[in-house]
Amino acid sequence: MSPFHLTRTLPEGATEAALRQDVLRGLTATPKTLPPKWFYDARGSELFDEITELPEYYPTRAEREILLARSTDVAAATGARTLVELGSGSSEKTRLLIDALTGTGALHTYVPVDVSESALTRAGHALVAERPGLRVHALIADFTAGLELPDSPGPRLLAFLGGTIGNLLPAERAAFLASVRALLAPGDALLLGTDLVKDERVLVRAYDDAAGVTAAFNKNVLTVVDRELGADFDPGAFDHVALWDAEREWIEMRLRSRTAQTVKVPALDLAVDFAAGEELRTEVSAKFRKEGVRAELRAAGLEPVHWWTDSEGRFALSLGVAR
Ligand code: AVJ
Repeated sequence: MSPFHLTRTLPEGATEAALRQDVLRGLTATPKTLPPKWFYDARGSELFDEITELPEYYPTRAEREILLARSTDVAAATGARTLVELGSGSSEKTRLLIDALTGTGALHTYVPVDVSESALTRAGHALVAERPGLRVHALIADFTAGLELPDSPGPRLLAFLGGTIGNLLPAERAAFLASVRALLAPGDALLLGTDLVKDERVLVRAYDDAAGVTAAFNKNVLTVVDRELGADFDPGAFDHVALWDAEREWIEMRLRSRTAQTVKVPALDLAVDFAAGEELRTEVSAKFRKEGVRAELRAAGLEPVHWWTDSEGRFALSLGVAR
């Protein structure tokens, strides 16, 4: 039996249908919005990788520091035989967890979950080659839509890293955490990465870097809509905006129309008017506090048992155990 297995849970055409629905809803709403998941085509994923190397963008390095220091603690606390990783991408940080869980002798199966088949296949084949004995069962799935996990031995550890939970709005977060809890048996665990509230200037710089990589990443969503739906967005006709909402404690990225303009989206038979200066919201990235994360975990039926931060207290990994 091959140690690499791939299951497609997204029906053919599901991604395009979801994009059409999101673009139709978002561009006809007031204020206009587009969901951040559409940033990540091949170019967008490349730009995100570049963002993680920027001096201003600290979350990736901070989370890696925690994983380097604490992966063996995670392994000891969970004894996981199955590791599920949501939004795994290239599975790079996961190697630290996989090594620690292999070190305890327990790890049997790694289940990376992502919408990108190319990333899953590449990372999956590399992993089974590097780690003889490890089974990899990749899932092409949208983890915000309801998941079914393959049969594999417990205890399970589900990892959701990078701070991506911050891209969900509070009500979506609660629904997401409840659906995660439903995948777990009592004693299974969730390892959750969250970026933390900190000085506003540090936060805004992380989303508005001097080299303009985040601006290009933000505008790339327009290129995706152009290519997939035949739209005529001119990315140069919009300015990148990053701002801190102090009340809701989240960063927002927006695209501000430089002029009054009309954008056509032929696939949706839609013409969208932008006033000069009008803003389109493309991302919310919530920042957290310890008490808030603990309360959200508890509300979902997950008992918070560990809270680890990097040495500068910028980012946290929480371990919640299913009750
Ligand atoms: C990968 C979703 C965690 O919100 O910080 C980086 C994406 N957006 N720069 C984040 C992102 C702008 C990132 N996440």
